Amino acid sequence: MTAQATIPSHVCIIMDGNGRWAKKRLMPRGFGHRKGVEATRRSVEFFASVGVRHLTLFAFSSENWSRPNEEVSSLMELFMLSLQKYTGELHDKGIRIRFVGDKLLFSEALQQQIRDTENKTRENSRMSLNIAANYGGRWDIVNAARLLAQQVADEELSPEQIDDQTFRRALSLGDGPDPDLFIRTGGEQRISNFLLWQLAYAEFYFCDRLWPDFSNDDMQVALDEYSRRQRRYGKTSEQVEISG
Ligand code: FPP
Repeated sequence: MTAQATIPSHVCIIMDGNGRWAKKRLMPRGFGHRKGVEATRRSVEFFASVGVRHLTLFAFSSENWSRPNEEVSSLMELFMLSLQKYTGELHDKGIRIRFVGDKLLFSEALQQQIRDTENKTRENSRMSLNIAANYGGRWDIVNAARLLAQQVADEELSPEQIDDQTFRRALSLGDGPDPDLFIRTGGEQRISNFLLWQLAYAEFYFCDRLWPDFSNDDMQVALDEYSRRQRRYGKTSEQVEISG
């Protein structure tokens, strides 16, 4: 008997390797990022089609501003063009798009495009696509602490009421489930300040494939691997087997 596949409710991905993909072809890094957008589109389609309800993609970290100016501007332009090009298509497929991260450093035009995309797709419920841009896990935690501190100062909340649940709700993505499966392409095995709090119990899957080459078959391999994992949340395997 074949074991039933377990589909993660929330997948998050560090899409790494665009630069190396381009370099191998003696092309500028921007070319790799453009190919990366095609892989992004494929992955959104794939994960929506298998029933994943939340997909969070790390598109630009708070630390990426320190890349050469030319690369930063080409990435900003690519975000703008991709949103203009794909918002309608994703909307028609029932996908809600949200940005997580500090948007204030983006140009006014990009912020406006982000608002338009978020507003247009707000009511969609098939899958939530969260794009982490100018995002950092530490920023997220500091931001949540500041929010809760303000609520305490305003006497809307007492310090004793701050627990695991109140804290997680104050974080980005606090209105949805934590990621079940974390994928990083490109061969590096680190979190790079992605969803630090939210990844507490995620299953980690690292693969060497560079992001532009990450195919549907590779995505399926990641899902198969996830299906084989036993999530214990601190319990013993015997306890997990008994409780199912
Ligand atoms: C990491 O590769 C990738 C990025 C910093 C950018 C990721 C962005 C995209 C794939 C575009 C997504 C677009 C939208 C609209 C979500 P890297 O440059 O660090 O690669 P390297 O490690 O080989 O240098």
